[in-house]
Amino acid sequence: MITKNGIEHIKNFLNNEQIKKLNSEIDEISGSYLINGVTRASTWVNKNLCEINSPVINIKNINLLEIAFKIYKELNDKTSKKFTLSGVRVIIEKKNSHPITWHTDKTKGVIRAIIYLKGGEEDNGNLSYVKESHLKVYDPEAHKIDPVKEGLNEKIVSLNTEVGDLIYFDINGIHKKNTVVRERRVLFFEFHDGLSEKPVGQVIFDNSKITHEIKSNINFLFPEKNKIVKSYSIYSESLPEDTPLKVFYYYLKNFNKIFFTKFKKKLFKFKN
Ligand SMILES: [Fe+2]
Repeated sequence: MITKNGIEHIKNFLNNEQIKKLNSEIDEISGSYLINGVTRASTWVNKNLCEINSPVINIKNINLLEIAFKIYKELNDKTSKKFTLSGVRVIIEKKNSHPITWHTDKTKGVIRAIIYLKGGEEDNGNLSYVKESHLKVYDPEAHKIDPVKEGLNEKIVSLNTEVGDLIYFDINGIHKKNTVVRERRVLFFEFHDGLSEKPVGQVIFDNSKITHEIKSNINFLFPEKNKIVKSYSIYSESLPEDTPLKVFYYYLKNFNKIFFTKFKKKLFKFKN
């Protein structure tokens, strides 16, 4: 249905064991922040929104590249296109800290896939989509589009997703993430068809994640020649509003530790 409707929902794509392993490792990494050379860490955009840095590398108990490859095969089966992986993220959101209303990403040839690890129910951060709206060519200035005003009510679907489910959709179609009342935790993947004008996103991974099957389908990882590769940066030029207090505490604690260790070493040298 991806080619006709622009969206597909697959129930129980991950099993309970995989979900449990992922959630406990994400819990662990989300409590550690980038400081003093630590790279297995998380970035907090505000006190209710967080991403795991370089998740393919940092998540060790489950191979995220293998999960992405399983989605890639699913996409190849359902469409006639050869996609390349162009993004892997792990996003944690609480209390609707990143509201998104109806919009189109006005880009053809890009598929976004989401696997729910927490939330995703109809009243807690599920996705709504306007069926067949991916086929339209939108004005370059267009972004927010209200399908109700456009008379597209009958084409709206509100996905009844649950933990473990996979959805994937054409980002050219009109879509929205519904309000996150409690917590929504997702694995987020992006696939590029090699023809889209959108730059291919950079996926950072280590060679330990490349399985034999991935090696034999290397198009999955490498975009066509001459494609512009864009790196994803999650950063802010100023201190984000609502930076969690625990981040300040973590920094203070570590700076103090480093400072006193250096001080003690100097004192010891001086004495001798
Ligand atoms: Fe979007």
